[in-house]
Amino acid sequence: MSRYTVFGNPIAQSKSPLIHHMFAQQAGLEITYERTLATEQDFISSLSTFFVDADAQGCNVTSPFKEQVARWVNELSAGAKIAGAVNTVIKKEDGTFLGDTTDGKGLVQDLLRLNVQIKGARILLLGAGGAARGVLQSILALEPKLLMVANRTQAKAKQLALLLPQDNFVGIDLNQLNEVQQPFDLIINSTSASLSGELPSIPDSVISSGACIYDMSYADKPTVFLQHAQKLGVLNTFDGLGMLVGQAAESFYLWTGYRPDVLPVIQKLRSTL
Ligand code: ATR
Repeated sequence: MSRYTVFGNPIAQSKSPLIHHMFAQQAGLEITYERTLATEQDFISSLSTFFVDADAQGCNVTSPFKEQVARWVNELSAGAKIAGAVNTVIKKEDGTFLGDTTDGKGLVQDLLRLNVQIKGARILLLGAGGAARGVLQSILALEPKLLMVANRTQAKAKQLALLLPQDNFVGIDLNQLNEVQQPFDLIINSTSASLSGELPSIPDSVISSGACIYDMSYADKPTVFLQHAQKLGVLNTFDGLGMLVGQAAESFYLWTGYRPDVLPVIQKLRSTL
């Protein structure tokens, strides 16, 4: 039976086993998918030990090991190179390991599922940490008119923009949003502010009621950022639960060649929040 796991710290909260077992049921595959708690010191040995088992076909890696595993794999996908991080390890037939990142595809697929247009859109991405870096390539591949990364620490936004130099991709300081005149079609919050119930300080003027607002975080109720947008009259607000399931679906596809139907899984998870 094929074996998978997710490494992280903390890891007890991870929904990945639940998600992947639902995918396997859809696919008619019998798999085991566990959670593995690791420390910075034992992560690499724990990873190597996992793959000693011939049944171990792949694993997911979450915070804080995504960068460490990118240095361990034999090969990186183009997206993982740009992200500097890996969330999916695939054991290839020759026994070597490919590191990929599925967060960007998970986000983009969720946006498309929600009928949010990316091609030709003016997009504001809040935050310039690992979460932002992981989705840049996938967003830019769909040719937005503009992708503006705005971050509290300006230098990080500028560094991000340098990763994929092109005219429609810029990095600015959050404060510079005051100078933006044209509204955005889509605003994506990738900051970790939602996790601590904080609102990134952006002027209300950039949030037009016709925009789509997407928060990569999710909870049992709308995040503070989504609540704020709703108060400003925005109708299209979405949290990141669909992205979570979308990135898992992409990992499952990379391992098994089967594309799961994400909708029943999103609905099931939503009912358990
Ligand atoms: P992650 O992997 O979740 O992206 P990270 O790499 O630590 O985590 O990045 C967190 C991001 O959220 C950063 O862009 C951070 O801004 P700074 O670079 O200025 O630190 C942003 N962030 C966190 N809390 C924030 C807040 N209260 N307001 C605005 N931005 C915030």
